[in-house]
Amino acid sequence: MDKKTVLSCIQPTGDMHLGNYFGAVQNWVNLQNDYQCIYGVVDYHAMTMPYDVAKLRNNTWELITNLMAVGVKAENLFVQSLVPEHTELGWIFNCFCSYGQLTRMTQFKDKSSQISESSKEEFISVGLLDYPVLQSADILIYKADYVPVGKDQEQHLELTRDIAQRFNNQAGKEYFVLPEGLYTATPKIKSTADPSKKMSKSAGEKHYISLFAEPERITKQIKSAVTDLGESTDGKMSDGVENLFEMMKAAGAMEAYNALQQDFVNGSLKYVDLKEATAKALLDMTAVFRDEKAALNADKKAIKEAVKSSSEVIRKKAQQTLKEVKELIGLLNVRY
Ligand code: TRP
Repeated sequence: MDKKTVLSCIQPTGDMHLGNYFGAVQNWVNLQNDYQCIYGVVDYHAMTMPYDVAKLRNNTWELITNLMAVGVKAENLFVQSLVPEHTELGWIFNCFCSYGQLTRMTQFKDKSSQISESSKEEFISVGLLDYPVLQSADILIYKADYVPVGKDQEQHLELTRDIAQRFNNQAGKEYFVLPEGLYTATPKIKSTADPSKKMSKSAGEKHYISLFAEPERITKQIKSAVTDLGESTDGKMSDGVENLFEMMKAAGAMEAYNALQQDFVNGSLKYVDLKEATAKALLDMTAVFRDEKAALNADKKAIKEAVKSSSEVIRKKAQQTLKEVKELIGLLNVRY
């Protein structure tokens, strides 16, 4: 039987950190064994908030390189702006999406209020409101069966199904299969400076550990990680300690993990030991990624060629869908 299709995308916003890797990308790599995977670096999505023109293209290549360095296969990767059919289908879907439903998206409400609070200009683009429609096009254009996403994207996936349904009604045919979320349990890594929050770039430099950081920096950040704040613990593990254990486990250092968990149970756990073991686990894992990235960067042209040609191949599927879509809803097909 044909393998089911998995589709997911990530915005090119610079540095990849342990939270992104353990929470999503590591899972992408594993899914490649069992599914037909298509992974997009979605640069059109990165324009919805104020952004730096000079950085966008670099961030896109950087992310591509990072993804390849950790084991995403080049042939599974595409760049969204190399497959313009996404935006064309996005327009069509605009006409199958309710304005009211878009204004009710939690992420839109959060991001637009962030903009209102933080800038004088208060420029909220239509793109920010509309971006879940483009996301629906990203998913449906490849007729994806499964979309591995976090809980924060559940609402967007529901919108995707609503659009598909409304399209099918208009077309008089069950053309689009309704895609499902793939909610694999992945480690949720917290900020090392404030383990009550998730690890993210927006909180600032000391809150996240870059996957490709120099070993000294990783060690230093783990050493200064918050463990507990002297709160009464009554045998319960603090968020900070738990976070270090999570990272160690996610990096695959099970032996050290089990031994130190035992120490914790016995009440003899030393934080220096915990930190040392966590740093070692992360260094062992990231050394491979850094080497791989250096090897890739030695021939940047090859990276570009690989992704350009994989985007071309993936684009063929997008073109086929768009052709059928236009056929179904009364538009002309000249180019396809
Ligand atoms: N909206 C997703 C995010 O912010 C990124 C994304 C864009 C996406 N298109 C997608 C995720 C399609 C899954 C499928 O993280």
